[in-house]
Amino acid sequence: MNLRSLLFASLAATAFACGDGADAPDKAAARKGYGDGVWGASYFPNIELTEHSGKKVRFFDDLIEGKVVMINFMFTSCPDVCPMETARLLDVQRLLGERVGTEVHMYSISIDPTRDTPEVLAAYRERWGVQPGWSFYTGKLEEIDLLRQKLGVLAPELDPEMGAMDHNINMVLGNQATGRWMRRSPFENPYGLANDLGTWLTNWKKRSPETLVDQGDKGAPTIRTPSAGEVLFRTRCASCHTLGGVDTWGITTGKRVGPDLYGVVANRDPAWLRRWLAEPDKMLAEKDPLAMSLLAASNGIAMPNAHLTPVDIDNVIAYLSEASAEIDKERAASPATPPR
Ligand code: HEC
Repeated sequence: MNLRSLLFASLAATAFACGDGADAPDKAAARKGYGDGVWGASYFPNIELTEHSGKKVRFFDDLIEGKVVMINFMFTSCPDVCPMETARLLDVQRLLGERVGTEVHMYSISIDPTRDTPEVLAAYRERWGVQPGWSFYTGKLEEIDLLRQKLGVLAPELDPEMGAMDHNINMVLGNQATGRWMRRSPFENPYGLANDLGTWLTNWKKRSPETLVDQGDKGAPTIRTPSAGEVLFRTRCASCHTLGGVDTWGITTGKRVGPDLYGVVANRDPAWLRRWLAEPDKMLAEKDPLAMSLLAASNGIAMPNAHLTPVDIDNVIAYLSEASAEIDKERAASPATPPR
């Protein structure tokens, strides 16, 4: 069984078992047709949540009814993987552009609601440069747990007390009106996620040129086997770092959360670089001067410890220097091209 059918199985299993948040029969009848009735108002708990702005909303009535949505669960003090997830979702927002907030809605719900007050969430949004249309919510812990359960993403690994999250299971994309829901990993390619939200879930209603990376227009992709270092970089670093101004899919993007890594292997002391990749959190805690100046230049966002092994570090360093050499070659070949 793949993830999607698993989600359906778990949703279906609880679909009729629970009446939480059910509306009066007349109201429910008026909504018949949404999500075939099964994925309607009687399924999703209509819990109260508070937006980062302080505005109170109801989950079903205000956030998902009749809408295409991305919902992920996070907490602002999460040290390792949440920042990476937020960075990747920023890409999704960038790709969908103005459609976010109108055709497609992005919601991040805190699973640490006591600490994540609306003010804390607002500051987090600001620090990360989240654009309008992507909202953050807090609420009552038990109700948020119920919501995670109903969305099929309640797992013990997702626990602020443990300081850890299993990020393969904390994001759901869906279209409440058609009853199509899917679980997605935030580690997936942001173009794929944007495409899911912007075309598949909207029934291909509109195709914005930015939403799709159309392989058809560009010719078939070159098939090659990426090195271990490249795979690692793509899956675990590229959401925060560009290389020579482009992301790993070759698309020119704006500045990301972390610095561009072109030339970093040549420019840094090798021992410093290796240690940084192994334990950036410790170096920041020790107030390593270079790390502190990079932190200041990154809006105070800290690079998470990716728990790389020494072999991972060899591989990613090799990739970064090869990729930088490639960029040098390209630039030498077409010096007229403005720097990316
Ligand atoms: C959540 C975002 C994020 C992720 C994921 C991330 N980084 Fe970073 N990285 C940063 C930030 C931010 C900085 C700047 C220092 C700071 O603020 O902690 C940084 C700094 C660096 C630097 C130092 C740059 C310099 O100029 O010396 C290197 C090298 C680096 N990162 C490599 C990596 C690699 C390799 C990975 C993947 C294993 C990775 N990063 C994953 C955010 C991230």
